[in-house]
Amino acid sequence: MPSPTDGSEPTPPAPSATELARAVDALRAGRLVAFPTETVYGLGADAASSSAVGHLYAVKGRPGGHPVIVHLASADQLEDWARSVPEPARILTAAFWPGPLTVVLPRTSRVPDEVTGGRDTVGLRVPDQPVALALLRAFGSGVAAPSANRFGRVSPTTADAVREELGDDVDVVLDGGPCTVGVESTIVELSGRDVTVLRVGGLPLEHLEDVLGRPVRRGQSGPSRAPGMLESHYAPDCRVEIVGADDLTARRAELEADGRRVEVLVPSRDAAADARLLYRRLREADALGADVVLAVLPVEEGLGAAIADRLRRAAGPRDPRRRDATGY
Ligand code: TXA
Ligand code: MG
Repeated sequence: MPSPTDGSEPTPPAPSATELARAVDALRAGRLVAFPTETVYGLGADAASSSAVGHLYAVKGRPGGHPVIVHLASADQLEDWARSVPEPARILTAAFWPGPLTVVLPRTSRVPDEVTGGRDTVGLRVPDQPVALALLRAFGSGVAAPSANRFGRVSPTTADAVREELGDDVDVVLDGGPCTVGVESTIVELSGRDVTVLRVGGLPLEHLEDVLGRPVRRGQSGPSRAPGMLESHYAPDCRVEIVGADDLTARRAELEADGRRVEVLVPSRDAAADARLLYRRLREADALGADVVLAVLPVEEGLGAAIADRLRRAAGPRDPRRRDATGY
């Protein structure tokens, strides 16, 4: 049983040159490498290789048609993967890369269909994490990486969580310590002057709008726009229930009277810390044998918007195969 953590344990030593070389060799051989980013751990494969990306989908248990993000070492590589890059994309990548922003742009012919789920666009980002950047520089090409969890489950924010999720199915796990942002990147689709948000995330929309000098369009989220925006996602084994702050005590008492083991997630005054620890707390609730997590939503500004979005999805209707007889 894990001890409660505040996410502030020291960063482990950076992977050695030998470990990095092993990771690069694995990628070149079409195998999988889990690596830290500032948002969540990614499960990486050579983005230019259809078969490597096919293997990635199989391990993740992800249905086809779900595009993955291609991670780059620097914005200089943008044009290898995207064509007709509009001005707002240049402005946003200059301002926020490396960082928790993914841009969706028309793809070049280098991008295999497996990466894009057959779409004409590709999602690209430069992560702000030293181990990730060292790997990407050493590999020298794009790394396709979804979050390093099985499909539909909570994203891992530590190397241990990756090992628990994927076990021997991952060839190399690079440890970069706990992720500093803790929720996935913000995804925007860019076309001409249009900037459409497909997923709220680690980069607050207010920061995007400040840099662009205008409001951005909140896209219709849902499987057709950005698969992964399914109703139920980011879910632990235990049930997650959203509750108003005023109803928390009564609801907790009711569930406990019923014999349920309850964990509680309430917003603090530090949204960045809440984001950093969100997935870890959901994983810990499972490890503690909780039946229900009662979650109070934060105010939906800044990182609060991403936290609220993930909690709603964690509370969303589940695949019936994942429920036990009691509905929990
Ligand atoms: O922070 C992150 O973005 C993490 C780290 C590892 O970088 N990655 C991540 O990947 O969250 P994943 O695969 O779990 O989520 C990627 C999301 C999916 O919702 C997918 O639909 C969307 O990105 N996406 C990727 N390419 C897209 C495209 N061409 N069009 C629309 N959505 C796209
Ligand atoms: Mg994911």
